[in-house]
Amino acid sequence: MKTINLVLNGTPRSVQADARRLLIEVIRDELDTKGARVGCLTGDCGACTVLLDGEVRKACLVLAASIDGNDVRTIEGLDAIEALQQAFVSHNAFQCGFCTSGMLVVAADLLKKNPSPTRDQIRHAISGNLCRCTAYEPIVEAIHSAARIDDARSDRR
Ligand code: FES
Ligand code: FES
Repeated sequence: MKTINLVLNGTPRSVQADARRLLIEVIRDELDTKGARVGCLTGDCGACTVLLDGEVRKACLVLAASIDGNDVRTIEGLDAIEALQQAFVSHNAFQCGFCTSGMLVVAADLLKKNPSPTRDQIRHAISGNLCRCTAYEPIVEAIHSAARIDDARSDRR
């Protein structure tokens, strides 16, 4: 067993876990934070996507033992994503919802770094996240629309 210290969604946490466990397993099973999902566990689907020290990472590809005080954000810990969430609803950008938290993490990160992405830039950003339900275009349109809403808000400021 190893003591793993991290800052999860803004709160310092410490947990004892088998050194072979994956970050996604520790987040979900030991820290009871279920927004990031377990899909393939091979780095292919993106359901487990989190922000690790501000960078998009697949938490099934990170050994929990490699974490040492790092900042980890799941969908539960993202700020100001209401416009994105509303855009996903308005554009029917999910059906079963299994991929949605990972998509939202990637989309929020994209809009933070590039507030006015093109559709091609959005497609590139979500290219590591699989959705079995939507054929992707509603997701692309939702993210594009959320970017326009944010643009309009900043124009009014
Ligand atoms: S569960 Fe991590 S990429 Fe699929
Ligand atoms: S909404 Fe079902 S996998 Fe994306």
